[in-house]
Amino acid sequence: MLLIKNIKKLVQVEEVPRIRVAGKEMANLSVLENAWVLIKNGLIAGFGRMDESGEEYRTMASNGNIEHVDAGGGLVFPSFCDSHTHLVYSGSREIEYIDKIRGLSYEEIARRGGGILNSAKLLQQTSEDELYNQSLQRAWEIIMMGTGAVEIKSGYGLTPEDEIKMLRVIRRLKETTPLIIRSSFLGAHALPAEYKGRRKEYVDLVVNRMIPMVAGENLADYIDVFCDRGFFSVEDTERILEAGNKYGLRGKLHANELDYSGGIQAGVKFKALSVDHLEFTGQKEIDALLSSDTMPTLLPGAAFFLGMDYPPARKMIEAGLPVALASDYNPGSSPSGNMKFIMSLGCIKLRMVPEEVINAVSVNGAYAMGVEKIAGSVAKGKKANLFITKPVPGYEFIPYAYGSNLIDKVILNGKKVDFN
Ligand code: NIG
Ligand code: FE
Repeated sequence: MLLIKNIKKLVQVEEVPRIRVAGKEMANLSVLENAWVLIKNGLIAGFGRMDESGEEYRTMASNGNIEHVDAGGGLVFPSFCDSHTHLVYSGSREIEYIDKIRGLSYEEIARRGGGILNSAKLLQQTSEDELYNQSLQRAWEIIMMGTGAVEIKSGYGLTPEDEIKMLRVIRRLKETTPLIIRSSFLGAHALPAEYKGRRKEYVDLVVNRMIPMVAGENLADYIDVFCDRGFFSVEDTERILEAGNKYGLRGKLHANELDYSGGIQAGVKFKALSVDHLEFTGQKEIDALLSSDTMPTLLPGAAFFLGMDYPPARKMIEAGLPVALASDYNPGSSPSGNMKFIMSLGCIKLRMVPEEVINAVSVNGAYAMGVEKIAGSVAKGKKANLFITKPVPGYEFIPYAYGSNLIDKVILNGKKVDFN
């Protein structure tokens, strides 16, 4: 048992856990001042205010079997739920970064055989063990930055064997790190060079070969498609979603990053759990989302890194939609899994207020990866995945001080994570 005491503010506490937060509600945040949290068997067992705690708290505090952690006036947050990443990849792509600085666009780089295909070539030459070792480092990097739950996609394999290799690495990360991990099969991430002009045949391969293989080994929780201009069409996307759904794989789509691609509507039609990116979102897309349970997920790190337009977050929230924020950690369009910086981009670039970004990286992030019952808030019975900040004035300071590392301690599954 573990007792965290002297918490200046316990952020995102819930008596009755919500599954998601939408519209105006997103600007509300429940905070307990001067608080404690009790952790038992890796789960949150209780919380309260230090000054209002009576006999029960005193008995607990003097119980020699309970380990104490003094938050020392820091804040306690539920760990970030990063619902969209590609953190299993090989190598890096800083050479393309320089091409971008010199003026090439993301799509031009992709057309020249760079981009996703570049990472695929590297990954195909990398052994499963080496890929695991590289990815493990990234997993620990995000743990130390406060992430406690993460969704990871395949999509740099692009052959049956290499997609399976990626998904096995994700499974190994599930088994060997304290993170909550969900995996998505993204065979339709880019068209391999050898299928140029034969997109339908590649989609056939995804539908007829890859999906049954992935499902047969139980390697994925969700299915993803890059539904966008120059990548996969709505028709391809619907075929893949339909095939995935038959195996119980629910959609989590890349949609409307480069154009009004129809991806949002396709996701809604197939009851996708989330549609992600959404830089090109107009009233029609908002109306489709309003009629659905699909979580609109914004990835401002990608628009920032690529120097592109941002999605209309304010319009979406004001229309009554929920919004989740995720990092998109990947080598080509967002080489960072820093969710605190994503919060800052949410405030600075998407004009969301701090309460909205906190809801977007906690409760709504958890929903967008299907872990809302076990993560995303400080509620009794949820996993004790938390981080303690250094002493700061208030939660608004976290997205404001965009370059400072403010995380003091990380607790996952009720255990302190050793930073060294
Ligand atoms: O989410 N948009 C598609 N896929 C990734 C980029 C992957 C890459 O460039 O390697 C994304 O931005
Ligand atoms: Fe992505």
